[in-house]
Amino acid sequence: MDKSERLRVLGDITNHIANDTTADAGGIMRVPMSDFTCPEILGQEQDAFFRNTALCMGLSGALPKPKTYWSDNETGIPILMVRDGEGRFRAYANVCRHRGSQVAPEGRGSKECFTCPYHAWTYGVDGSLLAINKKSHFGDISRKKLSLFELPSAELHGMLWVRPTQGDAVDEAECLGGLEDDMAHWQLTDFPFAHTQVIDVRANWKMAIDTFAENYHVNVLHAETVGKEMKANLQTCDIFKNNLRFVYPNQKLDLMRLMSLNMERWPYPQIATTLYYIYPNVIMMVDGFGVDLLRFFPLENSPSRSRTVHTWYVNPKVQPQLKEFGYSYEERASQFGEVIVNEDYETIAKIQLNAERGTQPEMLLGRNEAVLQHIHNVLRFGVGRDLMPVEEI
Ligand code: FES
Ligand SMILES: [Fe+2]
Repeated sequence: MDKSERLRVLGDITNHIANDTTADAGGIMRVPMSDFTCPEILGQEQDAFFRNTALCMGLSGALPKPKTYWSDNETGIPILMVRDGEGRFRAYANVCRHRGSQVAPEGRGSKECFTCPYHAWTYGVDGSLLAINKKSHFGDISRKKLSLFELPSAELHGMLWVRPTQGDAVDEAECLGGLEDDMAHWQLTDFPFAHTQVIDVRANWKMAIDTFAENYHVNVLHAETVGKEMKANLQTCDIFKNNLRFVYPNQKLDLMRLMSLNMERWPYPQIATTLYYIYPNVIMMVDGFGVDLLRFFPLENSPSRSRTVHTWYVNPKVQPQLKEFGYSYEERASQFGEVIVNEDYETIAKIQLNAERGTQPEMLLGRNEAVLQHIHNVLRFGVGRDLMPVEEI
């Protein structure tokens, strides 16, 4: 199948899904279990997605003011993100031009400049090499030619984007694919960083994404936890090129129906969570309290291991009340993490093992799992593989 043919099929499939809101349209899709176990496929994904695709790293609030930094190694490339002296978002390879040590420490913070821990070469927040320790030993080399390697980056509607390898500028239209108005609507620029947590699981990175992208399972797997609040097996699905928006209503939806309020007056953020799949590796969840941004990465070059980096950005409109009531961000993180670890990830670790044992050749995605169908096909397309067809039922 050549590229234009694949695009046509992808268009057909995505249009097909777009018209289905967990209703009667659509069909089933079969995804081979080897998509989750094959080391060659993982190698293609690492090259295509975690080296050569612009990735959403977080929201603007992660770098709240000039001369703040955030260094992140999750893609496998050490990335140093900064807000320079003028407040402009920039990214560099976090690699010293002397002998390649990591220049900035991992994590977030604030610094006037970065001094390499190995031999103390010092770089500015604009990436320039400010000083070479004992410079006379290096003759007349030019500091100007030894700035940190700058990586393509962009700050789009409050989202921070970086491509882990050097090259062309980040393409906004490619990143957001029509979600510009949505992102502008949420005013993400104003959301302060609240907390972050890292969760590792013995399961493929795509399988971890899958757990967040359908609510068919919430009254079964999560019957005693979040399933008490969420409505199961009812979601919307709108496609924006590679990305998706899908909405999960909660139990208050029934109350709205009972009250027969005009839909325009429904307190939308209180009765639903709006989720986005941001190609290739992010799930973003927006509710009345803030934004949960989940980034998924393969771990240890293994198709069987992955890392989820979960960061919460709090809605600035509710932040004062949360503070007043002594709301604990850490407690929220640990409750959220417990459900993921004890319920979702416990389950997918078993699925991963079964996939490796080869007892089941493929998984079946129902028409109520249309979001997963889209995700698996755009990721297959992203590494030049054939799309899986939607079979009419
Ligand atoms: S490796 Fe950074 S100063 Fe030597
Ligand atoms: Fe779940």
